[in-house]
Amino acid sequence: MNIHSISTQPFTDQKPGTSGLRKQVPVFQQRHYLENFVQSIFDSLEGYQGQTLVLGGDGRYYNRQAIQIILKMAAANGFGRVLVGQGGIMSTPAVSCVIRKHQAFGGIILSASHNPGGPEGDFGIKYNISNGGPAPEKVTSAIYDRSKAIEGYKIIEAADRDLDKLGSSQLGTMTVEVIDSVADYAQLMESLFDFDRISELLSSGKFRACMDSMHAVTGPYTHAILQQRLRAPAGTVINGTPLEDFGGGHPDPNLVYARDLVEILYKENGPDFGAASDGDGDRNMILGRKFFVTPSDSLAVLAANAKLVPGYSAGLAGVARSMPTSQAVDRVAAQIGIDCYETPTGWKFFGNLLDAGKATLCGEESFGTSSNHVREKDGLWAVLFWLNILAVKQQSVEQIVKEFWQTYGRNYYSRHDYEGVETDPANTLMANLRSKMSDLKGQKFGEYEVEYSDDFSYTDPIDGSISQKQGIRIGFTDGSRIVYRLSGTGTKGATLRLYLESYEPDSANHDKDPQQALASLITIADEVAQIRTLTGRDKPTVIT
Ligand code: G1P
Ligand code: ZN
Repeated sequence: MNIHSISTQPFTDQKPGTSGLRKQVPVFQQRHYLENFVQSIFDSLEGYQGQTLVLGGDGRYYNRQAIQIILKMAAANGFGRVLVGQGGIMSTPAVSCVIRKHQAFGGIILSASHNPGGPEGDFGIKYNISNGGPAPEKVTSAIYDRSKAIEGYKIIEAADRDLDKLGSSQLGTMTVEVIDSVADYAQLMESLFDFDRISELLSSGKFRACMDSMHAVTGPYTHAILQQRLRAPAGTVINGTPLEDFGGGHPDPNLVYARDLVEILYKENGPDFGAASDGDGDRNMILGRKFFVTPSDSLAVLAANAKLVPGYSAGLAGVARSMPTSQAVDRVAAQIGIDCYETPTGWKFFGNLLDAGKATLCGEESFGTSSNHVREKDGLWAVLFWLNILAVKQQSVEQIVKEFWQTYGRNYYSRHDYEGVETDPANTLMANLRSKMSDLKGQKFGEYEVEYSDDFSYTDPIDGSISQKQGIRIGFTDGSRIVYRLSGTGTKGATLRLYLESYEPDSANHDKDPQQALASLITIADEVAQIRTLTGRDKPTVIT
């Protein structure tokens, strides 16, 4: 085997964010940039000699080139086997599933999730550990530290692998196995959900669904599972072919970017159910006919109806949500009598709770939900969970959510994103809030009185690790909340996220437009943080 040791200089900007290292494609295309980061990953791990690595990506521009480089580096560094998805494709939840099923040492996922792709778009890389979940902070910090000191990397000289043909081949002493990207994942889904019942619903001719794969990674999964296995009519899946630039779109399943789907569901006589997933397949958006389910409500509805689904009929051990996610699921947990954990933003914080069996379902307001079946959020899983509930209850999406509000009350919720604002004023805004925080308690804004205000800090109940500065929370005496944080996944300037929530127990008041219901809080949020003045924007870029 022809192993080359290449000398390099460290890059100073390889700090992984909320979800791996994300940069614009030209940054990754710099000489040695990807290689340095991959070697930093390998150097931060111990005991992988001869072991299995799982490798796949969301099919975005540079995916295939990156896979060839990583295969050659994995061989040079002593991995025994790499399982790579056909065509280099594997969704984030599928990688998690494959790592667990094949007891791999870990996995590398190539994705910048919902960020646009293409030569001028974004690329990303993240490492997942043997439980199938994102590397915890101690691992990502070790990778970053290593990236700042690295002096070289190892790679073998060999021809590129054919990624499209299933089967095994040798790369030096390492085996490369090109695997079906869907099979293991589909089998796992079948073990959790009542496929017969869902299939009956989807093929009945009485119920119409539309699944928007947004030209991203889930195309092969939705075709195989929804249309082939579950017999949904052809045409149920739209935008189902993964493209390197996602067809020029922004593969983020929300009301703004999944416009095709929203238009279809809001037409007269539109389908009964709509869903979309993101670039790497871990996010989901759920729609009914002319009805949007907020991700926070979706999590709560899944928790409240889990007993109807075979994989969860024995009950939930507990639930967990990220701090800015609405408190709707807390009410379900209280009613069932299970624990509800509040974690910082980012899926990695759920890993320990899932491993320790303390939580069964987890979710984030950012269109992410999943369970202990993998260690990532899982878009298609959420879609199947909803379909299973719909098949059992034989009600519309809207009826199910409204019934839920009647039982538990409604948590009006919205997130306002100010994308790509200048970094300095964004930092000033957060710094101002921090310095103001301790004086806010007891202060009155119209009818609202501040009950507490802090910068969220989380102590992991399993390993005791502490994560500080996870977002400024202002809680009011009536249970309403305003949360501010800066995104950890953007690649241009800063993105300010403002999260707003208020609770309405009375079902007579459940039909308001959330922006109306939250109007006073929106004004207070601007007054306290001076958002418009500091960002120079008079409105958010995206409202969900
Ligand atoms: C965003 C979401 C967060 C999610 C992450 C990765 O992170 O807000 O919930 O886990 O993407 O998909 P942020 O950009 O806010 O740091
Ligand atoms: Zn994603």
